[in-house]
Amino acid sequence: MLTEASRRRSFAVISHPDAGKSTLTEALALHAKAIREAGRADGKTGKRTVSDWMDMEQARGISITSAALQFTYRDAVINLVDTPGHADFSEDTYRVLSAVDAAVMLVDAAKGLEAQTMKLFAVCKHRGIPLITVINKWDRPGKDALELMDEIQERTGLVPTPLTWPVGIGGDFRGVVDRRDGRYIRFTRTDGGKTIAPEEVMTPEEALEREGDAWTTATEESELLEASGADHDQETFLAGQTTPVLFGSAVQNFGVHALLDVLVDVAPSPAPRPTVSGTTRPVEAPFSAFVFKMQAGMDTAHRDRLAFARICSGVFERGMVVTSARTGRPFATKYAQQVFGRERTIVDHAYPGDVVGLVNAANLRVGDTLYLDKSVEYPPLPTFAPEHFAVMRAKDVSRYKQFQRGVMQLGAEGVVQVLRSDLRGDQAPVLAAVGPMQFEVAEHRMATEFNSPVTLDRLQYEIALRTTPEWIDQLNAQLGVEVLQREDGEHLALFPDRWRVTSVRNRLPDAVLEPLVAT
Ligand code: G4P
Repeated sequence: MLTEASRRRSFAVISHPDAGKSTLTEALALHAKAIREAGRADGKTGKRTVSDWMDMEQARGISITSAALQFTYRDAVINLVDTPGHADFSEDTYRVLSAVDAAVMLVDAAKGLEAQTMKLFAVCKHRGIPLITVINKWDRPGKDALELMDEIQERTGLVPTPLTWPVGIGGDFRGVVDRRDGRYIRFTRTDGGKTIAPEEVMTPEEALEREGDAWTTATEESELLEASGADHDQETFLAGQTTPVLFGSAVQNFGVHALLDVLVDVAPSPAPRPTVSGTTRPVEAPFSAFVFKMQAGMDTAHRDRLAFARICSGVFERGMVVTSARTGRPFATKYAQQVFGRERTIVDHAYPGDVVGLVNAANLRVGDTLYLDKSVEYPPLPTFAPEHFAVMRAKDVSRYKQFQRGVMQLGAEGVVQVLRSDLRGDQAPVLAAVGPMQFEVAEHRMATEFNSPVTLDRLQYEIALRTTPEWIDQLNAQLGVEVLQREDGEHLALFPDRWRVTSVRNRLPDAVLEPLVAT
């Protein structure tokens, strides 16, 4: 079992839409020979890993299912846990990061660090997740490589330690020098990235002869990095202080092989996990896992509820009956599945680091711990600062009971945060979410599952700050500001924009207005 656990590398890709995450995912799978041909990546047209479990998903052509792609590479088992992006950016995107042991920060060479990447980076930093950086799209004109290193250091505080360095500027991609052994790996274009690029490796002498000035510049820059101490260091990488960097072109499948090697060589395998009691549960302890995502209605015929759980310790065996730490009730894992996009495979055995989809999971919730034999509970998953707000009302007021039940359930599952105030009353709670997609999920489930169709009216707030009860009246008196209480008791002051926050802070300099940190 320990051997299996130590073979695992579980990671997620954090990036901004369009940086190439789907393309990279396909390329990784291709390299792992999980699929033969990397189809053209285009999540927006819904041609690819789009699941058809929910009508809504089909209609929008996007996937709202985060699940894991598992494949073997060398002697490792790689779990790539999907982080929903694009319009389906949500709490789940953040929560996925609690299920991985490392993350790959994918950066568009022309755009540098973008907003969504920075948001996800903040969560990685908070959780101490080691980060590998991939500078993508080097086949296109982009920023200067050294400039990008500065940007990473300034904006993330991580010291970039490039493992490869590009030969040729963005748009004139000749290849990379492998800074660990000085070899030159020549970039070869493949037919639309459909096949694995053959790797041509050369000695420095051969590289100089072939590439001339471009090679000289690359090696000089690489030496400059060495002099400034920008070489990979395993300890500081695991401590979240440095980030190994690779350059590549996902669409050409270049650099992907290097990324897989780096994942196997430097990314951590599952470690003992901290529990609520302050101890850690070793990976070799009896089975334990926690639920980081719930998916409803994946199979419309069965109204099925799927719980995605990350295994933390022990061996999972299909059919085993485990205990839910929250309810103390047994849960039979009859049909555990691995889910990625459309594909579902039945899982017979799984090990720490793996993600399984547990069916018939109506009684499970996000954050639940499951265990066998020796009881354990993992800390609850954090809530994140919401950026989208909407008032929800029942279309048919006589269905008040169903409405309240649905609201409670969606809040408890972490689909949305539910905010209330005396002013708005119980019939019109405010839903808050990280991404607007969650509102559609809530609307859909209220109608289909709780039999209470609803209307949702978006509110013009964008920022939520934590405040305390004594400030409620004064804040409510400010134009465009409203205070509501979240279910965990926290008071949230909502603002339409940063400008309003500043002006209220000027007017009420003593008011408690703090950023909502993930707890
Ligand atoms: P995402 O999942 O992060 O949102 O990005 P996705 O993979 O969908 O890629 C976004 C666009 O960037 C796609 O182009 C994709 O082909 C392109 N791309 C990804 N990696 C690279 C790369 O290494 N080099 C270059 N030049 N382009 C890359 P698109 O125009 O949106 O779609 P398509 O017309 O290429 O299908």
